[in-house]
Amino acid sequence: MRLLSRQGTLLFRLPMQDWFDVAKKLESLALKAAQRANLETDVFSPDVHPADPRFGDAQINGALPYAKRLKTNPREIAQQLVDQLNQDPEITSVAELSIAGPGFINIRFNSEFFLMWLRAFTTEEDFQASASRIFAGERVVVDYGSPNTAKQMHVGHIRAIVIGEAICRLLEFCGAKVTRDNHIGDWGTPYGKLFYAYKRYLNKTALEEDPLGELERLYKLGSRLANDDEATLEECRKELVKLQLGDPDAIALWKRVNELSIDGLKEIYDLLNVHFDCFLGESFYRDQVGRVYEELQETGLAEESEGALVVFHPEHKRYAKQPFIIRKSDGASNYATTDLATMLYRQEHFKATRVIIVTDDRQKDHFEQLDLTTKKWFNQTNRSRPEFRHVMFGKIMGDDGKPIKSRSGDPIRLKDLVYESIDRAYAIVKGKNPDMAEEEHKQIATTVGISAIKYADLSPNRTSNYVFSWDKLLSFEGNTAPYLLYAAARIQSIFRKAGVSMKFDDAAATPFETDEEIALARKIMEIVGVLHSTIETLRPHLLCTYLFELAGAFSAFYNANKVIVDDAGIKARRLILCQRSLLVLKIGLSLLGIRTLDRM
Ligand code: ARG
Repeated sequence: MRLLSRQGTLLFRLPMQDWFDVAKKLESLALKAAQRANLETDVFSPDVHPADPRFGDAQINGALPYAKRLKTNPREIAQQLVDQLNQDPEITSVAELSIAGPGFINIRFNSEFFLMWLRAFTTEEDFQASASRIFAGERVVVDYGSPNTAKQMHVGHIRAIVIGEAICRLLEFCGAKVTRDNHIGDWGTPYGKLFYAYKRYLNKTALEEDPLGELERLYKLGSRLANDDEATLEECRKELVKLQLGDPDAIALWKRVNELSIDGLKEIYDLLNVHFDCFLGESFYRDQVGRVYEELQETGLAEESEGALVVFHPEHKRYAKQPFIIRKSDGASNYATTDLATMLYRQEHFKATRVIIVTDDRQKDHFEQLDLTTKKWFNQTNRSRPEFRHVMFGKIMGDDGKPIKSRSGDPIRLKDLVYESIDRAYAIVKGKNPDMAEEEHKQIATTVGISAIKYADLSPNRTSNYVFSWDKLLSFEGNTAPYLLYAAARIQSIFRKAGVSMKFDDAAATPFETDEEIALARKIMEIVGVLHSTIETLRPHLLCTYLFELAGAFSAFYNANKVIVDDAGIKARRLILCQRSLLVLKIGLSLLGIRTLDRM
């Protein structure tokens, strides 16, 4: 890529691919400068951050900690670095440097650089090609969704699905090979009660019409009956024992119940456009628990305590008295046992370099103990250890500040919630565009309704609770899906109205001049840093906040700068800003699992 100065002379040939990740590139240039300045490079770390836009585009902060460690003057260190950087045409051709405060180096890019950057990354493929270096070579198993079978999914389940899917998409975009694994709870005590009721009170028609609804009804009925009557409880236990001993009839019924459950779940997953590679639930690991007991005993990690097999982690205050129980005193395996077997399987079978499990925050202790135990176990058995992350989330609250419930006090079914959102979106879309064809109303409403729910779930920091509000999530103003979808559709309409193709010839573009142009260009480039921080923290709200800001920067630009003007240079560069804003909005939304619309 060539760099032209304002006068149009060739300044420098820059390999722009290196500049995709501006922070990383600056880091490597700063390190080279540090070497040339004879700094102690094992002490110096460049520490590049975005700068306060009043002072620059990026900041190198490494001089201060370096000087502190070596007890020298930070401003002098910064000056030495700047002197060296100023010898390097790779940086001088694109930026000006200045020193601020106790040795911060501010970098201000020239507007040619912004233009070059935007012209180097024009398509989703261009972005992906560079982004995919971030996580190249990683194999990640993401365990999300993961409900318990024979129950409806309710509102709360949306979180595990939507957050998990966004994480998968981000990881894939950044180059990882992702396995989407739904670790359903498909084994254990509930089956005794369910089978008891199934054999006596099944409504066949209901089972055909709404399998999950009927199974849930039966399970609840069985639980209630067992609660009320000791003899019934005993019958339920017998049912469970039969299943656990592999009685062929019990196994056949269990299989049927699971198939029905998974079919019911898939209906909602399809609606949400979420597709799993496998459903390796708790039952899949039931024959593998023996290895867990053996190995944990052989390594001395597990010990008998009050009849149970447990693992203590005395170095952690919290778990010193509360051990990780891996076999109950009645000899049965539990959630901990199957999860340990699951860790082993993911390491051996999937060769996972990372494992991510998405659940609500009530399981925090369980996963901390699982991680501690796995670390010790894999270390002692010389296994490579996947990096484990428990991605947890808070609750969805109603207006009353309590976890959300339906009017009758029952949990709201997820399916009902999604359809209600589509219905509400339909009324809004129809109100806004009375002349549009009915088919189009429906199509747009489906996308808006589903996106609105997803986005409402992704945009708050996942670890906090959030209050569910139809008015807020379906609003066309504020940090919402309808607002962002509308922003994207509006950019498309600029091209449509002007009769310009998205693949227009941008050769005439001149460097950006107005404040809004430069602010928007800078915002578009920020996507790279946002991908990094989102993937590092596994917090999709960071991407949401960014997309909202991007849409805002676009609005500010569009309100102040006419795009379709006579000057070919100005028109081309403004069309570039429009097209790239749209591109990054689309990429970002699709990483959140949201489809964009051409018009709305
Ligand atoms: N089925 C569990 C639940 O509904 C979540 C499972 C999460 N995954 C795991 N490997 N434990 O809470």
